[in-house]
Amino acid sequence: MDILVIGTGYVGLVTGTCFAEMGHHVICLDINKEKIAALNAGHIPIYEPGLEEMVRRNTKANRLRFTTDYASAVKSSLACFITVDTPSCPDGNADLSFVKNVASAIAEHMDEYKVIVNKSTVPLGTVQIVTETISTVLKKRNCSTGFSVVSNPEFLKEGNAVNDFMKPDRVVIGSYDPQAIAIMKEIYSPFMLNHDRLIILDPPSAEMTKYAANAMLAMRISFMNELAGLCELIGADINMVRKGIGADQRIGYSFLYAGPGFGGSCFPKDVRALAAQAANHGYDMPLVKAISVVNTRQKSVLANKIFRYFSEKQGVAHSVIAILGLSFKPDTDDVRESAALTLIEQLLEVGATLRLYDPAAMDNAKKVVPDSPHIHWCENELDAAQGADAIVLVTEWKQFRFLDFKQILSAMRGPAFFDGRNQYNPSDMAKKGFDYISIGRSSVFSNAISDGETTNGTAQYQEAYERDYTLSP
Ligand SMILES: NC(=O)c1ccc[n+]([C@@H]2O[C@H](COP(=O)([O-])OP(=O)(O)OC[C@H]3O[C@@H](n4cnc5c(N)ncnc54)[C@H](O)[C@@H]3O)[C@@H](O)[C@H]2O)c1
Repeated sequence: MDILVIGTGYVGLVTGTCFAEMGHHVICLDINKEKIAALNAGHIPIYEPGLEEMVRRNTKANRLRFTTDYASAVKSSLACFITVDTPSCPDGNADLSFVKNVASAIAEHMDEYKVIVNKSTVPLGTVQIVTETISTVLKKRNCSTGFSVVSNPEFLKEGNAVNDFMKPDRVVIGSYDPQAIAIMKEIYSPFMLNHDRLIILDPPSAEMTKYAANAMLAMRISFMNELAGLCELIGADINMVRKGIGADQRIGYSFLYAGPGFGGSCFPKDVRALAAQAANHGYDMPLVKAISVVNTRQKSVLANKIFRYFSEKQGVAHSVIAILGLSFKPDTDDVRESAALTLIEQLLEVGATLRLYDPAAMDNAKKVVPDSPHIHWCENELDAAQGADAIVLVTEWKQFRFLDFKQILSAMRGPAFFDGRNQYNPSDMAKKGFDYISIGRSSVFSNAISDGETTNGTAQYQEAYERDYTLSP
C-alpha cells in the first residue's frame, strides 16, 4: 500500500521505516528541510537501535523515500499518518497546532479518498477536530472528495522502538468507518501473522487509551518514588520492596523502579494533558495530578542529597561533579525533560563544576545546556571521573552496569557516588571505597562500613528525609 508518514521524528521515522520493512511503499515527509536532506544523504537524525540499518535497506529497495513536498506525497498515498509533535501548552493542554497544520496541508492537496490517521498523541475529540479542519479546507477548494479520519495511537518505547513497532503488544484503531477500518487492517496485516493484535474501538476510547496507558505507567513510577522517600525514613530498601510486591501477579515487576523522576517527551506532557482535558470538562483528577506533583518533587531529590553531602564538606560550589547519562532513559539520544537536565540546572545554579558524559545524547544535550565555563563535556565515564568529588549516575546505560570502579575511584578527587538508578549494591560500593548514596535505600559511607555502620533508622535519617523530600513551593 502507498503510505505517507508526516513528521519524521522518533515516531514518524520508525513508523515509516517499519511499514516499508513489511513491503509497503512509504514516503516520510517533514517540514524540517535539514532533516530530510540528512535522511536523503543517508544520515539518521536520531539514535534508535536497529533503525539505521533498516532505513538503509528500505531506501535502497525504493520502498522508503523522504520529502518536504506535500503535493506529490499526498497525491500518491492512500493513507496519511500524522506523527508530528504535540507539546504541552502552558496550561498543560496538548498543543494541536502542528496536527491542524498537517490536516490543512493534506486537505490542500487531496483530490480522492484518503484515510488520515492520527498517530500523534492527541486529546479526546481530535478525530473530530481533524475532520472539521479538513472539511473546511476542502469546502474552500470546492472539492467534494470523501475521506475518513482514524485514531491509531502509538505505544512504542524509545530505545526499543523498532522492536516494539515490528512486534506490537496491540494496535489500537479508533474509527466508526468500515472502509477505513478495512484499510487499516490491511496496512497492519503483516504485523499480525503470529496472532491478531488489532483492537478496534470507537475514536474517543482509542484516544483515551493512549493517555490512560501513559498515566498508569507514570503513576507506578511516582508511586515507587513516593515509597522510596518513606523507605529512607524507616530504613527499608525500595529495591527489596519492589521484589516483594512484584511477585504478586496482579502487580508484576515492570515499571516499579524508584529513580530520579521520569522524563522524556511523553510521560510528563501526557500526564499534564490528561489532567488538563479533565479540567476542560470541569472534572477534577486528583490522582492524575498527584503523579506530576510527586515527579516534580522527585526531580529535586538527587540534587538535595548532593547539597546535603557537600554541606558537611567543601560545599557544592567548590565541588566537581561528574554526571553519567544525560538522555531521559538508556538507548536513546532524547533529552526532553530528562532528569539529568534538571539536575544540571540545579547544580549550576549553586556554582558546581560539572563533567558530563552520555553514550549517545551529548549532541542533543549541548543544544539545551547553557554555555558555561563550569561545564566540561567528557569522552567517556573515566574521563568524566577525572578530578571529580562525586559521580552521579542519572541514566542507566548498560555500559555503566560494570564500571571499572578501581580506575574510576583513583581518577576521582573525592569518594562520593550518587546512584539515581539503584544499580549497585550499597555495601559492595562502600567496600570499594565509595560514599554511596542511592534512592530509597540506606546510604553507606566508606569510612563507616569498617565500623559496621549505615545511616538508616537514625535521627540523621529523619533530617535527611525532610531535606530531600520536602516539597518545593
Ligand atoms: N517519542 C516517543 O517515544 C513517542 C511514543 C508514542 C507516541 N509519541 C507521540 O508521537 C508524536 C510525535 O512524537 P515524536 O517524539 O516523534 O516527535 P518529534 O519531535 O521527534 O518529531 C516530530 C516531527 O514532526 C515534524 N513536523 C512538525 N510540524 C510539521 C508539519 N506541519 N509537517 C511536517 N512535519 C512536521 C517536526 O519537524 C519533527 O521532525 C507526539 O504526539 C508524541 O506524544 C511519541
